[in-house]
Amino acid sequence: MDTVRDNNMREMPGWLGDKTPDDIYRSPLEIAWTFDYLMSGDKIEDLYRRAKQDQWNSDERLPWDLTVDPSRPMMNDEQDIYHRMPFFKKLSKSQQERFTAHSTAQMLSQFLHGEQGALMTAACITHSVPDATAKLYAATQTMDEARHVEVFARYCDKVAMVYPMSGWLKQLIDATLKADRYEKIMIGMNMIVEGLALGAFNNMYRSTQCELLKQLTFNVMRDEARHVSFGHAYLAPVIAGLPEDEVEDLADFAFEAVRILAFAGTAGTIASRVDPGFMLVLENCEIDADDFFAGLREAEQLGITRQLPPGQIHSLEHLMLPAIARVGLLTPRVRSRYEEAGIPVWEDPRILHAMEGGHPVAA
Ligand SMILES: [Fe+2]
Ligand SMILES: [Fe+2]
Repeated sequence: MDTVRDNNMREMPGWLGDKTPDDIYRSPLEIAWTFDYLMSGDKIEDLYRRAKQDQWNSDERLPWDLTVDPSRPMMNDEQDIYHRMPFFKKLSKSQQERFTAHSTAQMLSQFLHGEQGALMTAACITHSVPDATAKLYAATQTMDEARHVEVFARYCDKVAMVYPMSGWLKQLIDATLKADRYEKIMIGMNMIVEGLALGAFNNMYRSTQCELLKQLTFNVMRDEARHVSFGHAYLAPVIAGLPEDEVEDLADFAFEAVRILAFAGTAGTIASRVDPGFMLVLENCEIDADDFFAGLREAEQLGITRQLPPGQIHSLEHLMLPAIARVGLLTPRVRSRYEEAGIPVWEDPRILHAMEGGHPVAA
């Protein structure tokens, strides 16, 4: 689709490739040697063995020869709020196709940037976790994340566009990378960001019409399920042995991370006026922002909601909050912080357990 290629983000100066001072910083993390090389003989060793067996080569595993047409919806139209908006239906066919292509590229770009964040956090855990088996496991996760960066970069290349990282995602991953102890990095990444990713990949796998994206998300999701399991298996006994003030410090960190997400408006739509990437989507499609957001309000008044369709996983409800509860970070004090912020506390771990099996799940 030439119109899309004409707008290739890579050819637009100033959006990608230019680092800002916020993109380079020092970590306060302590680095830990260990000379006890005996394997732990527990769940972490089991996860390490599974991670070794489950390594995959994207060159062989995925059908890269398939053509991807970014102007065609990659998800079922009926599950996408934009395609159900009366405003959208009034746009010309070529404008609709452009919007589909650009908004999909904007969403996929967030997965790509998020995977780079995961790559760096997994490397941080490798050098800061004090346990030998956990170091080896974290090294496998680092390789998994490198593969995820690779496959999303290749897929975005097929769509021919990469959009900038959304502010809320950068804020969440920066808070994790700037944390002063490895436990916080595991909370921010293995429980929160990976809970978000696991839910999103699961939903994308179930709804996409693109066979390449379907196979890509299936394989990435299996790795992510292991990463979420690691966060719990390693941290639960560590947290159980910490003094109360340190547990409260970790519980506050988890709350702050959840709060960034809860107010990012990620459930079912990416439209936000405060997201320069989304505003760029509208600009590239020559859609007036005031008209678009008026159209979104009109759709909501007509009952066309941003709610996820039946069967789709809600990451906060089904994965993140249950993971935080399960590991012991919903202390009575921090529960009142969730309540004051208006964030419901979900504790039912059934979908979390099912997803840790590494297979797609319906809610
Ligand atoms: Fe990943
Ligand atoms: Fe991961």
